[in-house]
Amino acid sequence: MSTLRDLAEEHTALRPADIDHLHRIAGDWQLLSDLSFADLLLWVPVDGDGTFLCVAQVRPTTAPTAYLDDQVGRIVGGAEVAHLEVAHRQGRIWREGDPVWYGDVPARHEAIPVRLRTGDGEAGEVIAVVGRDTNLSTARTPSQLELNYLTTADDLAQMIADGTFPPPRHPGETTSAPRVGDGLVRLDANGKVTYASPNAQSAYRRLGYASHLVGEDLAKLHRRLAGDPLEGTDAGNAVLAALRGEAPPRREIDARGATMLTRALPLMPAGVPIGALVLVRDITEVRRRDRALITKDATIREIHHRVKNNLQTVAALLRLQARRVAMPEARVALEESVRRVASIALVHETLSMSSDEAVEFDGIVDRVASAATEVAATEVSVGMRRRGTFGVLPAEIATSLVMVLNELLLNAVEHGFPPADEEAGAPSPSPSPADAARPQAVVSAPRPEVVVSAHRARKQLHVTVTDNGRGLPEQFDAERGGNLGLQIVRALVTGELRGTIDLRNGADGGTEAAIVVPLARGTTDRLTGRAGPP
Ligand SMILES: Nc1ncnc2c1ncn2[C@@H]1O[C@H](COP(=O)(O)OP(=O)(O)O)[C@@H](O)[C@H]1O
Ligand SMILES: [Mg+2]
Repeated sequence: MSTLRDLAEEHTALRPADIDHLHRIAGDWQLLSDLSFADLLLWVPVDGDGTFLCVAQVRPTTAPTAYLDDQVGRIVGGAEVAHLEVAHRQGRIWREGDPVWYGDVPARHEAIPVRLRTGDGEAGEVIAVVGRDTNLSTARTPSQLELNYLTTADDLAQMIADGTFPPPRHPGETTSAPRVGDGLVRLDANGKVTYASPNAQSAYRRLGYASHLVGEDLAKLHRRLAGDPLEGTDAGNAVLAALRGEAPPRREIDARGATMLTRALPLMPAGVPIGALVLVRDITEVRRRDRALITKDATIREIHHRVKNNLQTVAALLRLQARRVAMPEARVALEESVRRVASIALVHETLSMSSDEAVEFDGIVDRVASAATEVAATEVSVGMRRRGTFGVLPAEIATSLVMVLNELLLNAVEHGFPPADEEAGAPSPSPSPADAARPQAVVSAPRPEVVVSAHRARKQLHVTVTDNGRGLPEQFDAERGGNLGLQIVRALVTGELRGTIDLRNGADGGTEAAIVVPLARGTTDRLTGRAGPP
């Protein structure tokens, strides 16, 4: 569906500043819709032909809608938009006396001109019209609450026509909370409460105020309620600011273990400050959950930190042991274990620094890769390169994948570019067509290099580790061959990661390991640990 901006740019001559204002209206008009018990449609005049285009729509949460169908994108002319035309031309709110019918729904039409004030505060021109259409089928004698809502709605409607509603947005604030249904208090010009909705009354009760709000000086009450004088002053000042015609940011009041969010709005139809509207919402439960989440978050990070420390201790112990054993084979095995453990520690280190259970994997790969180059034979210097990006990976994938890459990178460095004496001593195989195509003195010809490349496509992560070394041994069984390293790789890729691996000789010599790992995984499968279909 087209956005408000697309529609306006395509069909109208509105300037960017006008369109921004329309966005502000659409960001804040749920309030007016709820107070009016009416649907609001934002209409803009189509360039030059007398028709109007609907660019946005909101339904009331307090009453039935007048429109079951979406109206955005409709272009209408003639009698149906006569009321919009009047409001647009004359710049005043227009109300139709007789109901109009949508199918079998009777509705009352109103049209509110939308003005954008000029930079120097003058009332500017009318740039659009808000249609306020009330479904009359359930209309009856309005209650006290309804009368108060409707009066306030009319004040806000006038302010849209004046260009003083919606107020400028404060950075970082979401637009819609608190809503009308959360709790509404209306103040007169002296700051005394003239009406409080039942929900508002309950919210104040949770803060410890049990009497009726009507007649109270709300700024003073806010200061009294908050035990902390600073915060009380904040929420109190916000009320005073709104009474002066300003639109202060939202404020919270903490009292008696409860928290209330408040939003104070000035009421100044036709430029006359007549009071303020204060929307309130009991957010005790939300704040409690926030705090619990923050604590949980910190705990998880702390645990990752400890796991990392413990793994590093294990690695250090194995390293000590490796130095003490005499048997070369045993030492090599212990040193391999050190690197395996250290690679897992890397993931936990990264997790201990992030706020969720996912990691930027590129940094981890780069560190594992640079550690792998250190095992290269002393006379060979192997270049490492990463192409593309792994992006952010969930913790479980990251832990397995880092072990896989560790093995593959070590193999590429160790076996692709063996020390010169080992290669010279190796039995030279009888020349085969495949061998003939391969460069013979690999170590001396191209610069030894290992490339890790990664990209995402169709919810899969594609990873290849390519070296330009001497390639896999003759008669190597790519499906089953190898020692512990490749066993670990296959087990993790096909098990834990539920992916595939293909180990083969590269097109231009060297070895290539291609891995494909699915990224969207079912939670239940993850819990049972069952391997997915191959
Ligand atoms: N990139 C590579 N280039 C050449 N040979 C490789 C490569 N990767 C694996 N191999 C071969 O596969 C064998 C098995 O590897 P692996 O299971 O990791 O055990 P290890 O590294 O302990 O020998 C290696 O000994 C080597 O012959
Ligand atoms: Mg190996």
